[in-house]
Parts: sequence; C-alpha cells; structure tokens
Amino acid sequence: MFSERIDRLTSSLIRELLALTQKPDIISFAGGLPAREAMPPLNLADVPPDLSQYGATDGEPELRTAIAAQLRELGLRCRPEQVLVTTGSQQGIDLVSKLYIDPGTPVAVETPSYLAALQSFRLFGARFEELPLTANGIDPEQLRLLIHRHRPAFVYLIPTFQNPAGVCYDESTRAAVAAVLRETGIPLLEDEPYRELVYEPVDRSPLCARLGEGDTWMYMGTFSKTGVPGLRIGYIAASENVHPHLVRLKQSTDLHTNRIGQWWCAQFVNSPDYSAHLERLRAFYRERRDAMEAALTRHLGELAEWTMPNGGLFFWVRLKGGGDTRALLVRALERKVAFMPGEAFFANPNAQHGAFMRLNFSHATPDQLDRGLAVLAEVIQEQQGILKMETGAGVVEI
Ligand SMILES: Cc1ncc(COP(=O)(O)O)c(C=O)c1O
Repeated sequence: MFSERIDRLTSSLIRELLALTQKPDIISFAGGLPAREAMPPLNLADVPPDLSQYGATDGEPELRTAIAAQLRELGLRCRPEQVLVTTGSQQGIDLVSKLYIDPGTPVAVETPSYLAALQSFRLFGARFEELPLTANGIDPEQLRLLIHRHRPAFVYLIPTFQNPAGVCYDESTRAAVAAVLRETGIPLLEDEPYRELVYEPVDRSPLCARLGEGDTWMYMGTFSKTGVPGLRIGYIAASENVHPHLVRLKQSTDLHTNRIGQWWCAQFVNSPDYSAHLERLRAFYRERRDAMEAALTRHLGELAEWTMPNGGLFFWVRLKGGGDTRALLVRALERKVAFMPGEAFFANPNAQHGAFMRLNFSHATPDQLDRGLAVLAEVIQEQQGILKMETGAGVVEI
C-alpha cells in the first residue's frame, strides 16, 4: 500500500512527548524548547505586503546575505548564493538524506546523536557507522579507520554543544577531524543549532571552515534556539557542487520557506539589539544550567553522573546503577515529570543505553527544576529498589 521505506519510518518519541509536555501541569525536561520568556518579541506589524506573494526557493536575498556574512565571519568561504533557507534546520537534514541515501548507504554518525536526524537517515535506509563521543569530541583516528573501511556517503557531526551529549569538540580535535575529512574527501554535514548558546569560553570554530577549496561541505544553522522556533526558519549553506541539488530537492518538497518568517529573521539578525539579545539569552540560560546542576547534585548526586555542559540546552545523564529509563519515564509521567530516555539517541541501541537520559534545562523554571528532579530521584530509587528485590542482591550493573 505504501512505499517500501515506510516500513523504516519510526515515530519520533520527542514529537509524541511534546504533545504531553505542553499540558500546563507537566514539568518537562524532554524537548529542546527555548524558554518563552527568553524569546524576542514577535512583531509582525511592519511586514511588507509584497511578501504575500510566492517567493524564491533559495530564500529571501536579505536573509541569505546576512547568513553568508555571519558564516564568513566564522571563516567559511560562503557567498549568499550558497545559502538555502529551509523550514527549520530539520528540513536540511531531510534534503541531505534525499540527496545521499539509498537503502544500505553507509552514513557516519556520532554515538549518541540527534534522534530526529537518525530518524530521517533511517527512513531513507542508511546503514549507520558509529563514532563514539568522548569528552573532547570523536577520535580522529577512529574516523579515519571508519572511512577506509566503509566509505560513508557523508559524516554527520554536531561539534558544538552536541545534542544530546552536550560535548563541544576541542580545538585539536576539530583540526584533526577536518584534516581526516580533507585527506579522504568525504562530505561533511555539520549541524550547529546551539553555537550561540555558549556559557563558557570554548573553541566553537566550525569544522566546515577548516575544509579546503575542493571539499564537499554542508553547514546547518537555525533561528529556532536564538529566535522563535514556531517560525521554522533554518538554513543550509553548502559547497558549490552540492547547493544546486539541495535547491532542486527543496523545490519538489515545499517550493520555498515561508517569507514572513524569513523577513522577521532578517530584521532580527540585522537589528542593533541582536548581540545584546544573545548576551541576555546566554545569561538567562547559564543561570538555568547552573540551577539544574545544583538540583542534580542535590537530588541525583548519589544516583547518577553527568558532565557540566559549556553550552546548549541539555544535561546527558547516566544512572550509576544502570536501569531502564524508558520504564522510568512511564513512572515519571504518572507523577507529571517528563524527560527523554537516552536509548532513542543511539543509532544501534543496546541494553546498556537504557541507563542514559537527556534532561533539558531551558524550559522549566528553577523552582520546577528542583521539584521535577526530586520526583525523578524518587522514581529512580523506586526502580532500583525493585531491581534489587528482583535480583536479591545489590543494584544490577548492566
Ligand atoms: C542537533 C539538532 N539539529 C537540528 C535541530 C532542528 O532544529 P530546527 O528544525 O528547529 O531548526 C535540532 C533541534 O532541536 C537539533 O537539536
């Protein structure tokens, strides 16, 4: 009845949870939702009437110029003509999937990685080749080996405040990874939704900026985390050998991105208040991150481990005694607390991944953070108590 790929279509746990978490009495650590009070005002009073007409597939010239200027400042060789404005950066992931992936195509991904990217790559039939994340990023030698063994169609990386792990690649890893990509000529898809949400001084230079003239690169950004996610405006800038294909794919997908949202984003980034807005945003989220770290230490200090993220929106938490965070979610939801079980972020999940969960710190207030984590600690203890009873021994290590 449907195409063969529909058998591979998994539903997104995030989208399902989001429906639940929008209920007012739920404390949600689940999505990557920006805080409502940190968003800039959505003033659409001055939208030019011309924008009611159909527009260009690539995007509005004013916005493409502003994006290209930002990317050049970051060191990318990028002209406005290489920027494609998309319906959220999620659409960039879809277009790249369509461009590169046939059933069985190898794609290299970090492990863990962004679950909605995995979902899209999987739909088109990707075979995942995994690059385990360490505190500093991925191991460049492992990348080299993986490329020689599997020749992936592209490598998908989130080097700056990775989702879900919060890792930010250090300078030497960035240099070494870029060197391997240059040497092997494998295309890079770099996804950077969180680069502006930085709370400590760390290296954030894009990997794409380190690639050479003839290399194939795709760099995605978004206005969802700094601006207004409901407008669904993101972009994919790409090397000249790839950009025209992405444009044609977008034509057949949705003709073009909504023009009103693009207009708003152009006003937003070109406004004299833009840098001050980013500074306010960083101060606001830094405070929430610190509140979550304090609450985690208070309630989960004995039960779990994590690393303090230097940016982004998430803590990646591992239960010290192992466990099953999917089952935990069912219990937590009964007590009106939501989070993301870690398993969905693994391309090839196994039992050990059940011990992970991702906790968002941007959406809940500090008071909710504290109450929600207290509940979470209780349900973890209940689950571990049951495990203890079942095994008649100490907490099971799996
Ligand atoms: C790593 C990553 N890529 C892409 C996206 C999609 O963002 P959007 O489509 O809102 O631009 C997200 C959203 O959370 C993300 O975390």
